[in-house]
Amino acid sequence: MKDLFDKIYKDKGPLGKWATHAEGYFVFPKLEGQISNRMKFQGKDVITWSINDYLGLANDPEIREADAQAAKLYGSAYPMGARMMSGHTSLHEQLQNELAAFVSKEAAYLLNFGYQGMVSTIDALVTKNDIIVYDVDSHACIIDGVRLHMGKRFTYKHNDVQSLEKNLERATKLADQTGGGILVISEGVFGMRGEQGRLKEIIELKKKFNFRFLVDDAHGFGTLGKTGAGAGEEQGIQDGIDVYFATFAKSMASTGAFIAADKEIIDYLKYNLRSQMFAKSLQMQLVVGALKRLDMLRTRPEMKANLWKIVDALQSGLKDRGFDIGTTQSCVTPVYLKGSIPEAMALVKDLRENYGIFCSIVVYPVIPKGLILLRMIPTATHTLEDVEITLNAFSAIRDRLHNGTYKRLSAAVSAQMGE
Ligand SMILES: Cc1ncc(COP(=O)(O)O)c(C=O)c1O
Repeated sequence: MKDLFDKIYKDKGPLGKWATHAEGYFVFPKLEGQISNRMKFQGKDVITWSINDYLGLANDPEIREADAQAAKLYGSAYPMGARMMSGHTSLHEQLQNELAAFVSKEAAYLLNFGYQGMVSTIDALVTKNDIIVYDVDSHACIIDGVRLHMGKRFTYKHNDVQSLEKNLERATKLADQTGGGILVISEGVFGMRGEQGRLKEIIELKKKFNFRFLVDDAHGFGTLGKTGAGAGEEQGIQDGIDVYFATFAKSMASTGAFIAADKEIIDYLKYNLRSQMFAKSLQMQLVVGALKRLDMLRTRPEMKANLWKIVDALQSGLKDRGFDIGTTQSCVTPVYLKGSIPEAMALVKDLRENYGIFCSIVVYPVIPKGLILLRMIPTATHTLEDVEITLNAFSAIRDRLHNGTYKRLSAAVSAQMGE
């Protein structure tokens, strides 16, 4: 019989195999200093383009003060126990009511983490007779929620409404046999490539098919729509989203998440969300901090305006210089280049060491082989000067990629890794 750990000793997995070359630098890097447009990496100043602090709230003095006061008053223990048992408070309720109003839904419920909350929401919404139809490029929290499902599930091609329609036909036939219903899941903004989910067209399909629609709007909340209520508001179809989900980990610069829907649906979820029923309540510091953040979202529209000033400058600057930024329709700014993983490593090292630019690098298996994705997250704290410096650096590294500099620099790593 094999030892359970044999596979681990032999194969570190598609990303784990890079650990010796990547850890501490490309993965698990340590960014130091206060969260902002400029931080330190390995003692060097860098312009950071990899932090989802869209509105610049992470280090806003009023936010820091509110967080500090809440910590002083409540510590990090309060309240103890799950919401259902002993962890419920008026402030949790107040935050839920304010969040629901902000995203134009009847009710909301807090989740401790977006990832776990989404897994649990999917789990609570379906029984084995129901069918799930979801975008093939969904975030891991959606995929893992679907993995818990005991019934049938279909994926549709990424953001492809025709493919969704075909799968809804299959799902409808099947649901007629099982006696179940259909749950469709999309993201409001796809976090890697930045396209908005085609929410409006998906909701149009409700005229032809009977389904309920769950939207993960992690990247849309706070950044899209007139008031910042997200991709549903941006597309004018918030009503057609049956269950709206967003995390506090991006625009809100915190930890926690929520779902919002009709009151009867939230009342049901409250009693069936295992991630909340069997876990300690969201700690008060985070609840008080979220109330303050939400207040700032409502009362400081200039934060979103500043964010979009930077997004527009960065995205138009990249396009003007001939970079491929795909089909983003949000703040998420992907830059696609062609090259191997070792070349990508040499390029990112050059960007960090010689140009002081820190952005995330995404490679196979997250994106197709041979592509390098530099994923940039503009924020309200960036300046037009940051954008200019970055654009010049990108032009320089593209030249070096094309003239083979990174291929030469990475030859030793390539040979070692068989790439
Ligand atoms: C699309 C999407 N959904 C869910 C999550 C998970 O949220 P959290 O970090 O609150 O667990 C993330 C990442 O934060 C995300 O990008």
